[in-house]
Amino acid sequence: MAVGIFDSGLGGLTVLNAVTGRLPDTALVYFGDNAHAPYGVRDADDIYQLTTRGVQCLFDEGCDLVILACNTASAAALRRMQESWVPKDKRVLGVFVPLIEALTERKWGDNSPPRPVAVETVALFATPATVSSRAFQRELAFRAIGVDVEAQPCAGVVDAIEMGDMILADALVRSHVEALLRRMPKPQAAILGCTHYPLVEEVFRDALGPDVAVYSQPDLVAEALADYLARHPDKRGGGSGSKFLTTGNPKSVSNKATQFLRRRIEFQKAEMP
Ligand code: DGL
Repeated sequence: MAVGIFDSGLGGLTVLNAVTGRLPDTALVYFGDNAHAPYGVRDADDIYQLTTRGVQCLFDEGCDLVILACNTASAAALRRMQESWVPKDKRVLGVFVPLIEALTERKWGDNSPPRPVAVETVALFATPATVSSRAFQRELAFRAIGVDVEAQPCAGVVDAIEMGDMILADALVRSHVEALLRRMPKPQAAILGCTHYPLVEEVFRDALGPDVAVYSQPDLVAEALADYLARHPDKRGGGSGSKFLTTGNPKSVSNKATQFLRRRIEFQKAEMP
C-alpha cells in the first residue's frame, strides 16, 4: 500500500518531489497519463473519463489515498468523482485547497464565513480547462471576499514542457504573463495553478517582477498531505520508495523526468483499464 500521485504527465513530479522531501518514509506510486496529455485542452467529460481510469490504476496498485496532482483534473473531475465514483474505503484529494488556504491565510477546517483578506488582486495562471471551470474562484469565494482574480489560460505551456522544449515553454510563459499584466498591471499575488509550472517557476518570477508574491503548489501540497496523514495514519500505507507508471513511452518519459528532477527516474508502462 502506498500513496498515489496522479497527473496527466510530468507536472505531478513537482508534487512528488516535495512529498518525498517532506515525508521521506512514505511509499509513493506515481501515475502519469503522458499518452493523453495535455488534459487542459479537453472537455470536462473527457478529463473525467481519463482521470478515473488513471486513478483506478493507482487503486489497483493498492493505493487507498490518491492525490490528484493535476489542477485540470482537480477542477474538471474531482467533485464528480467524489460524489459518485470513489469507493467508500478510498480517498481522492485535489491540489487547489492548500493553495487557497495559503493565499487566504486560513487553516484547514476553518469553516467560518468568507472574510476580507490581505491580498486583493490575484493573477491566476492555469490551463484553459482549469480557467474555464472557474473552480479556483469558487473555492476562493468560500473563504475570502473582495479578491479580484484575473485568470490567464496558458495555452501551449504544458505541451512544450511535455515535449521537453524549454525554450518554447519560456517564450510562452513570458507572453502569457505579458498578456495578463496588460489586463491587471499590478497583481499583489500570482498563483501557478498547474503542477507543470513549477518546472518554469523562475521564468514566471522573472516575468512578473520582484513585487509579485508567487504561490507555487508543491511545498504547500506536501505540507497539507503531511497534516492529512497525521490525522489519518491508516491512509499512509507501508513500504518505502517510489514506483513510476506512465501510459506513454517509458524510455522517453524516464529521460525527461530525470532531466526535470535531476535524479534518475525509471518509469514502467501502465495499462489503463
Ligand atoms: N499538471 C496539469 C495541471 O496541473 C496539467 C494539465 C494538462 O495536461 O494540461 O493542470
